[in-house]
Amino acid sequence: MAAYKRDGRKFAMLSVYDCPTARIAAAAGIETLLVGDSLAMTVLGHPDTVSVTTEEMLHHVKAVSRGAGTSMVVADMPFLSYQTSPRDAVLNAGRFMKEGRADAVKIECGRNAAPTVAAIHDAGIPIVAHIGLTPQSAGQLGGLKVQGKTVDTALKLIDDARAYQDAGAFAILMECVPAEIARLVSDALDVPTISYGAGPHCDCQGLVSSDVLGLFDAFLPKFSRRYAELATDIGKALSSYHADVVAGRFPATENCYGLPADILEELAVRLDERNGGRQ
Ligand code: KIV
Repeated sequence: MAAYKRDGRKFAMLSVYDCPTARIAAAAGIETLLVGDSLAMTVLGHPDTVSVTTEEMLHHVKAVSRGAGTSMVVADMPFLSYQTSPRDAVLNAGRFMKEGRADAVKIECGRNAAPTVAAIHDAGIPIVAHIGLTPQSAGQLGGLKVQGKTVDTALKLIDDARAYQDAGAFAILMECVPAEIARLVSDALDVPTISYGAGPHCDCQGLVSSDVLGLFDAFLPKFSRRYAELATDIGKALSSYHADVVAGRFPATENCYGLPADILEELAVRLDERNGGRQ
């Protein structure tokens, strides 16, 4: 990833949750796959991200790792898997590497997360620091709001990004940050920046697959773009299937397993014998 920033080349990240989508994304050339805790909302049906557990995240990280090919897999550490102490953070990050076969982890960096970033980095685990809107602490931020809109909060974002780079983060992900501020952050850093709603000046652009594919229709963030309407297409396909079942059009002959005529004849004879010639 460092080479992309050095050479001024853009790359993409996509939040994905399962093996087939990871395979398709990797084949499409997406360089980095984030198994985001957005899983909680987009797949597991929770109203926010706080309820998803380490075990649930691991289950999906394993699936994505199996399909990722040469794309980088970043495992998102869920709420309370790293905030309690740097030691807990290292042990849980280690599970995502050892059991999940992730290439890196990401943590949401609220206040004073530098010791945690440093502990994970010092354990030899590549780490992405997530700043700006950090949904796991949305309650403290007053909701899912754009961050860094005042001079003081913008300066804090720049200082935090530098601190996390110095603590060992190999990339800084910014969520919902004004494009001008994200540019200042990017210019201040040697490591690449990843944008989820932080404008065009970041080295990497990230989106959530359910938004891109039109699978999550509760809402579409302003920063996102829909490239397909799969929920509509799936709905149409399933209505057609249901209509075929109730009308007796499914299964058709080509969907049925057949038997050679001689087996059928022999079966008829044997059944006849079993019944002692009785009808
Ligand atoms: O969970 C996720 O997909 C994320 C991105 C929105 C940054 O954390």
